[in-house]
Amino acid sequence: MAYFEWADDMVIDQGPIDQDHQTLVRQVNDLHTATSEGRGHEVVARLLEELVRDTVEHIRREEKFMESVGYPQLARHKEGHDSFVDELRSLQDQFAAGSITVAPRLSMLLRDWLSLHIRRYDKDIAVFLRKQKREAARTPPRPRA
Ligand SMILES: [Fe+2]
Ligand SMILES: [Fe+2]
Repeated sequence: MAYFEWADDMVIDQGPIDQDHQTLVRQVNDLHTATSEGRGHEVVARLLEELVRDTVEHIRREEKFMESVGYPQLARHKEGHDSFVDELRSLQDQFAAGSITVAPRLSMLLRDWLSLHIRRYDKDIAVFLRKQKREAARTPPRPRA
């Protein structure tokens, strides 16, 4: 069993958001494997750097998407993203300063945060999109001029 299992209840859009999340899940597993196998600082540092970079890129893409569909909870969602990125960066700095014990904490933080955030908060985008679709289907077409 993988350290971080992808599960069906994490599906959001069956598209780009899920692909991003699946990539992050894979990267968290790679980081966990590297740290638990006692791989060198360089290997862990590279995986960590990729993971932080891809997490930040995903977050920005997700926010852009939310903005494009008029998601009403964007500001609150963004706050959650920002404080997570701050925490991630501060742990990454500690790792760069030589604290090797930070790496396992980082994979745990990423796993726990992603797992909860996707299920509780990202999932709300899917709920919103479904509601938007239903409302659009109910709205009668405008009469042509
Ligand atoms: Fe996300
Ligand atoms: Fe999110």
